[in-house]
Amino acid sequence: MTQQRENWSARSGFILAAIGSAVGLGNIWRFPYVAYENGGGAFMVPYLIALIAAGFPLLFLDYVVGQKYRGAPPTAYKRMVKSAEPIGWWQVLVCAIIGIYYASVLGWAGSYVFFSFGQQWGADTEAFFFKTFLQNADTLNFTFVPNLLWSLVLVWLVALFIMFAGVKKGIELSNRIFIPLLVVMFTILVVQSLRLPGATEGLNAFFTPNWSAMADPKVWLAAFGHVFFSMSIGFGIMVTYASYLKRNANLTGSGLVVGFANSSFELLAGIGIFSALGFMAQASGKPVAEVVSGGIGLAFIAYPKIISSMGDLGNIIGFLFYASLTVAGLTSMVSILEVPISAFRDKFGWSRNKAVSIVGGVSAVISILMFSTQNAITFVDIIDNFANNIGIVLGAILSIIWVFWLNRSLIPVLTNHINRISSFKVGKGWVFTLTVITPVALIAALILTLKSLLTEGYGEYPMMTQAIFGWGVVAIFAVGAMLLSSMKHK
Ligand code: ALA
Repeated sequence: MTQQRENWSARSGFILAAIGSAVGLGNIWRFPYVAYENGGGAFMVPYLIALIAAGFPLLFLDYVVGQKYRGAPPTAYKRMVKSAEPIGWWQVLVCAIIGIYYASVLGWAGSYVFFSFGQQWGADTEAFFFKTFLQNADTLNFTFVPNLLWSLVLVWLVALFIMFAGVKKGIELSNRIFIPLLVVMFTILVVQSLRLPGATEGLNAFFTPNWSAMADPKVWLAAFGHVFFSMSIGFGIMVTYASYLKRNANLTGSGLVVGFANSSFELLAGIGIFSALGFMAQASGKPVAEVVSGGIGLAFIAYPKIISSMGDLGNIIGFLFYASLTVAGLTSMVSILEVPISAFRDKFGWSRNKAVSIVGGVSAVISILMFSTQNAITFVDIIDNFANNIGIVLGAILSIIWVFWLNRSLIPVLTNHINRISSFKVGKGWVFTLTVITPVALIAALILTLKSLLTEGYGEYPMMTQAIFGWGVVAIFAVGAMLLSSMKHK
């Protein structure tokens, strides 16, 4: 390759960017509700096991592959094992598709920053979200919703502006600004939430374990799926970010910092949100279980309701919450976009400007066309499910199989590389986990997911919609990966 690979200016730049990538929409709106729905306090057990059995081992694998082979996933995998380029492209395509809908949810979060001034959602927050804001249609309907259009255009303009500026002046600098800002805003938010009357009731609901939930395989699936999405592993991000590290950078030390920061943020988000839910339950005289609604609803329907019941304090809490969500989402969005940009640069020798214009431009157009329609939330929901539960999980399984099952001679090479430069050494435990525990757990999770998707489908959506936007996306990963791998390297 003729071009000099970009670098972080310092390890702290990499650590901040990796934390910025990991901490995102997944931590603030997804984790609290996933944890609550999957056994509350008892979810911490599968969550911690998933973190140790798959999260950290895979994070270290992503780091060493990126840093040692110095490339985005297709090039890094190809340099490691010649036949593995399609696995890299699979991960890149999963990431690109995630970016396309991630921008949409980020646009909603940004819009809600404005709606929080004067609590513009009114009394019926559900009707506001679905009818007024999303103008949601039950059937396929490509009518444009102007508000969604503008917020998406803005998200893409900001994200592409950062991407054009490059690794140091774009990604690293934006994280150096946004991460401290996020920490300050989020700390104030959590402290304020904990001081609300009724907070303890919410925390009891969040932390009271429902042990029987642990017998349910779906709970374990949810834990693994969430850990991957949240740590940004298995879909190319950490491989790409690590490829910009210097050759002697401490890998596992950074990984431990990033992983612990991500989980702490997640836990704090749960504590903050459930304190607020406890407040709302007390104010409305209902049990916490009745004021909790799942997933997307928690952030955009239940939370506005809580804010409205807080009077003037709600203005500050509302602003802090949606601003935190937007900032956290933006630093993750940037990392998601860097993966396809870097992959195309590696393969075709494009300049950053060319790659951002083509890859970023095409992604922006598709994203804007699809997600400013009346079907935005349907597309987000279906694509999110298929990209995460099949795309990320299968990408992770393939990368493990290629290295730890089919090319075992690589294991000492990777282990030695990590241990030569890192403070925290890996050994037989890491190898055993990645050879046996992680793949077995992931394969079981994937089989269960496929069985349920094939027999029951996903949600209440018409089969045709699921076939096009769910299975169609999976087909894009597979066909795209083969096609892109077969093209000539520059
Ligand atoms: N890791 C990012 C998140 O949690 C993608 O949102």
